[in-house]
Amino acid sequence: MSVSKPLPHDSARLHVTGAARYTDDIPSPRGTLHLAFGLSPIARGHITGMDLSKVQQSPGVVAVLTAKGLPFANDVSPSIHDEPLLAAGTVNYVGQPVFLVVADSHLNARIAARKGKVDYKEEPALLTLGAALAADSRFEEGPRIYHKGDAAKAIDAAPHRVEGTFELGGQEHFYLEGQAAMALPQEDGGMHVHSSTQHPTEIQHKVAEAIGLPMHAVRVETRRMGGGFGGKESQGNALAVACAVAARLTGKPCKMRYDRDDDMVITGKRHAFRISYRAGFDDDGRLQGVEFLHLVDCGWAQDLSLPVADRAMLHADNAYLIPNVRIESHRLRTNRQSATAYRGFGGPQGMVGIERVMDHIAHDLGLDPAELRQLNYYAPMQTPEAPAGEAQDTSGQPLDPDADLASRGAPVQPAKTSPPPKDVQTTPYHMPVEDFILHDLTAQLLKSSDYAARKAAIAKWNQGQTHLKRGIAFSPVKFGISFTLTHLNQAGALVHVYQDGSVHLNHGGTEMGQGLFQKVAQVAASRFGIPLDKVKITASDTAKVPNTSATAASSGSDLNGMAVKAACDTLRARMAEHLALQHQASPADVVFENGMVRIGQDEMTFEKAAMACYQGRVSLSATGFYKTPKVEWDRIKGQGRPFYYFAYGAAVTEVAVDALTGENRILRCDILHDAGASLNPGIDIGQIEGGYVQGAGWLTTEELVWDDAGRLRTHAPSTYKIPACSDRPDVFNVNLFDGQNREDTIYRSKAVGEPPFMLGISAWLALSDAVAAFGDAYPALNAPATAEEVWRAVRRVRDGI
Ligand code: MTE
Ligand code: MOS
Repeated sequence: MSVSKPLPHDSARLHVTGAARYTDDIPSPRGTLHLAFGLSPIARGHITGMDLSKVQQSPGVVAVLTAKGLPFANDVSPSIHDEPLLAAGTVNYVGQPVFLVVADSHLNARIAARKGKVDYKEEPALLTLGAALAADSRFEEGPRIYHKGDAAKAIDAAPHRVEGTFELGGQEHFYLEGQAAMALPQEDGGMHVHSSTQHPTEIQHKVAEAIGLPMHAVRVETRRMGGGFGGKESQGNALAVACAVAARLTGKPCKMRYDRDDDMVITGKRHAFRISYRAGFDDDGRLQGVEFLHLVDCGWAQDLSLPVADRAMLHADNAYLIPNVRIESHRLRTNRQSATAYRGFGGPQGMVGIERVMDHIAHDLGLDPAELRQLNYYAPMQTPEAPAGEAQDTSGQPLDPDADLASRGAPVQPAKTSPPPKDVQTTPYHMPVEDFILHDLTAQLLKSSDYAARKAAIAKWNQGQTHLKRGIAFSPVKFGISFTLTHLNQAGALVHVYQDGSVHLNHGGTEMGQGLFQKVAQVAASRFGIPLDKVKITASDTAKVPNTSATAASSGSDLNGMAVKAACDTLRARMAEHLALQHQASPADVVFENGMVRIGQDEMTFEKAAMACYQGRVSLSATGFYKTPKVEWDRIKGQGRPFYYFAYGAAVTEVAVDALTGENRILRCDILHDAGASLNPGIDIGQIEGGYVQGAGWLTTEELVWDDAGRLRTHAPSTYKIPACSDRPDVFNVNLFDGQNREDTIYRSKAVGEPPFMLGISAWLALSDAVAAFGDAYPALNAPATAEEVWRAVRRVRDGI
């Protein structure tokens, strides 16, 4: 069976040979036009005049568009229509698209875009969280507050307290393939769009609005992205809409891609936070109460900021049972790029908050930070996990004769455990934690990484050093899986079996390098009992599977895997019924296995079976549908069950820092991560390694710097430092935790896309540990802990400055 095999990414060979086709590689028809935006040079103001004659006269220019020239909707917002494609009267950040150039080449379009003369009446820009707060510039009326118990009272009554405030920077996605789109006008005014997007249906929706047609007139295709990381959930809208509008106007195919600098200057990034905390605890370090204040830099437009800021609140507990807690979150509007989805979707920021609290408490009480964390964990899962169920190959088992096209959601598995008392084992949003496995996972990791002995060895080594110190840190992850907007937790699939027994597969998910297509193909191959090369993976296409959710929230394989399974099982049932009739057997005796179909005593190849069914006039095409059970959530009250289950993991990172320069590096990292019963351990390990390195990059070297005029100064790899190959830890031990999902997910696997990102927090904590070795004070590291920040922290700790 294909499922659970560590098969390489389906496009691995294409990726490394350069043969993989990305949006910009799709051969464009003769006469294709190219687009570029003219950008606002100021952070905030009114447009008082525009002279675009030089743009118009620039070589190769075919058309120039402003907000006034747009035929229908001027809107690319994924939420509240506050984000025009082209600035209408006001500008709100440096880099905001103001006009659109259509030219005969990419270069000509870009050259012309620099020639616009636009006059502005400047207004004071809000460029800091403090300024936005003072101006009460925000996206919801007041702060959002979640609470459980009475945090203030518990903190005041506790024997010990810590408090502090720290900065947590944003992050550029730095997908290797920049944003790109192409629109091909159709004979009836419709539009065929290729887009590098995690959300083809959203592109279809925004393009339809922009060209004044129903969604049926727009077809969006996405074969793959060269990375998305959340940056292509909404940020591709502008390019696709611009292409469609220009294609409608000119009747010519239009394409657009941002070069790297434009991409970094125009598009949104991870939300920067300022987090303040106050925590009360007893002599052992047991938490009594915690308060958090989140100031969230949402940038200029709402985009996905509300659910991102919500998810930060939903992860403010991480793995810890906090008896009394209050989280207050301000979603502030500033004159910067509109912050957007980024791997973890706010979860990482929330988690860093409580990990900082743990670090601070351990430092002040002189406790081992790993022990302190375990002491504060949620209680362990009470009974063994549910039986294997779908984790076994059920292709030989009786089929459901009532298989139905549309309604085959996962059967809801009754919880086999008796959860601990509700008021005890609940999150700050009052959801019981029923699947907590971190006690076991932590014990295994601390042992396999030799944590205690290495910690002792490091302490000894540090004593003999003046300028160099090492540090080690452990950190766990508990990450909630599901979209918090409940209705997004659905997916569809379309599966064809051709008469030669080959299978064509389509589903609502998109491929961005995470291996979703391979995993889902493995599911299909397993359901039919056929080799993987019989299953053709095809581009995501809104004409095949409609009304899709973004491939996001790590739920791609959970949702689409189940939808594909449903479609395959429908087809299997139809085939079994026909074959059973022909062979005087019962459908229950038809087994799909090893490329063969067994019907009672008879046996034939899957190819022959497909042909027999075709000739018997059996429909060999089916849709499948899935919706996640059990989830419901009231984001205003902060109560409910936003997550179907949690994914877990933990890491131990060791670093070295140099006090003279602040330079530092990761020496070793050990990870144990929970992917349930993995659909593909090879791909999952890749996700974990990549997630960790990206998370560590966020908290160490990746620094976004804006100047006093609101201009992003770090808009290229020369100044913005993502981890390079050489930054991968020299020793990197990554393993999967042996277990399976307690909930009835696809083959009992767990989502793996985002959770490992937060394992990178251990690198930041290890730096804090190393810096603490220089003196007595708490390092109070900000993030990113760049060499400069580490250097400053050493001075704080050692010299008290
Ligand atoms: N892995 C690669 N290689 N490239 C990506 O862009 N995006 C991440 C994660 N892993 C990403 C990735 C993000 S933000 C998410 S939400 C998930 O993959 C989405 O895919 P999944 O739901 O299929 O895991
Ligand atoms: Mo991922 S941030 O949910 O695209």
